[in-house]
Amino acid sequence: MILYSIASWTALATTVLAIPTPSCDRESLIKATDSYIAAQTAGNLVSLQSTLASNWTYTENNKLTDVKKGVLAKPLKIDHRRTNADTTACRTYTELIVADPATPYVIGTQIQYDASLKITSIDTIASTTGSWLFDAKKTLQYVLAEKWDPIPVSKQDSRALIQAAGDAYMDMWNNATASEAVPWGTPCTRLEGSAYTGKGLPDDSCKPGIPANHNQAPNTHRRYVVDEVMGSS
Ligand SMILES: *[C@@H]1O[C@H](CO)[C@@H](O)[C@H](O)[C@H]1NC(C)=O
Ligand SMILES: *[C@@H]1O[C@H](CO)[C@@H](O)[C@H](O)[C@H]1NC(C)=O
Repeated sequence: MILYSIASWTALATTVLAIPTPSCDRESLIKATDSYIAAQTAGNLVSLQSTLASNWTYTENNKLTDVKKGVLAKPLKIDHRRTNADTTACRTYTELIVADPATPYVIGTQIQYDASLKITSIDTIASTTGSWLFDAKKTLQYVLAEKWDPIPVSKQDSRALIQAAGDAYMDMWNNATASEAVPWGTPCTRLEGSAYTGKGLPDDSCKPGIPANHNQAPNTHRRYVVDEVMGSS
């Protein structure tokens, strides 16, 4: 019954309405997110108009925000963009760097899509002059020097393992043993604001500078974008 109705719907969609069925595959997610890049470049929502769900929400720096008052309303000259895709949760995470000294920004944006690839949420953390360790030019230089090649399928970790690694890292602030559960690599580098822990040495470690006080406020309200191809979460 179910199979039958899906089959007839697909037939209807392709033969009668000729609407391609969108889906949360990697290519479609990244392509859909291109419209967000165009919107941020223009400083308006024109390119997103046909993609926004009617009840979509805009969140900036963890607060529901009027998009007309947010960073998305500023035209920005984007120097770097990288999008990671979560094909299970139908989400993307995009990192943007604007080095222009007039409007410097480092932006991380999670976009949530529904099953028909309509945007239900744009959730942005935007840092600029005055933010912790902020120096967009330096961040850009470090980011451009990094290589994020796709991981061959046979070497990809499971979604659960990648998310657990991210969770263990975020747990370090309030859990003294969490750092033992982080699968640290060697070499390992952290980029925090414009501060880079790596020295380009084969034994670079990420452990110097991790939280020593485990009685801090927990990192809550986690929203995941797990990308097996990038090995990121
Ligand atoms: C938006 O609408 C869709 C269906 O129209 C619904 O499933 C979803 O829960 C709504 N989201 C919010 C945040 O209200
Ligand atoms: C602390 O982290 C360890 C390692 O991930 C985990 O096994 C343990 O359950 C965590 N403790 C609490 C209280 O969350």
